[in-house]
Amino acid sequence: MIKYVLTKDYSDMSRKAANILSAQILLKPDSVLGLATGSSPLGIYTCLAERCKKGDLDFSRITCVNLDEFRGVARESEHSYYRFMHYNLFSRINIDINRTFIPDGSIENADEACEEYERILTSVGEVDLQLLGLGHNGHIGFNEPAAVFSKGTHYEELTESTVRANARFFTSEKEVPTQAYTMGIRNIMSAKRILMVVSGADKSAIVKRAFFGDTTPNVPASVLQLHRDVTVIGDASAFSEIADLI
Ligand code: GLP
Repeated sequence: MIKYVLTKDYSDMSRKAANILSAQILLKPDSVLGLATGSSPLGIYTCLAERCKKGDLDFSRITCVNLDEFRGVARESEHSYYRFMHYNLFSRINIDINRTFIPDGSIENADEACEEYERILTSVGEVDLQLLGLGHNGHIGFNEPAAVFSKGTHYEELTESTVRANARFFTSEKEVPTQAYTMGIRNIMSAKRILMVVSGADKSAIVKRAFFGDTTPNVPASVLQLHRDVTVIGDASAFSEIADLI
């Protein structure tokens, strides 16, 4: 079942999503959180860090598993998702770094990298709350449009649209890695609860396709229609094409 929360703008969306994550952490201090990168969750991470600093949130028993990482990018690289998570969240909260996990993009051998991450996912157990953003082509994590829904952690060739969307984090589009390791759709769907955040008019068409169109691997996020507990928090621009439907 999908619940929609319409918010005014990015900062309203971020605070409301942070409220849901905060409630999860308060009610289950040893939660396993599935985390995402991209611009959409940044405001949430700032809110969570502020609340932790004030003493309102305690991450000391929390475990975090991230969705994805660029392949061929060293952890120390300024472009790695590892660095993104450490800079934007982990270094700002009282989490035990040994309980934070991100696929290792520096492992060349794809089978090895994916098997290692699957082992980690199995060892941390069920994800209590999985945070997601939404790609312009409907990708979640780095699960690109495909003929079938992916299962476990795997390697993806990124589409042109995804490379272009990620280019804003690099000096030029040519520098954007074209391959990634990502949790699969089965991993994502195994989470107890899913929280997606979407913002901006450029996401309005894909929001409608993903949640009011057919469930198809060609729009990976559409699989969320089959999950029992999904909340989508969007700002007015991202929800403009579904405002009359929710
Ligand atoms: C990237 C990430 C996704 C993210 C998506 C949307 O490709 N791998 O996990 O959800 O982009 O990003 P943004 O929130 O910046 O629009």
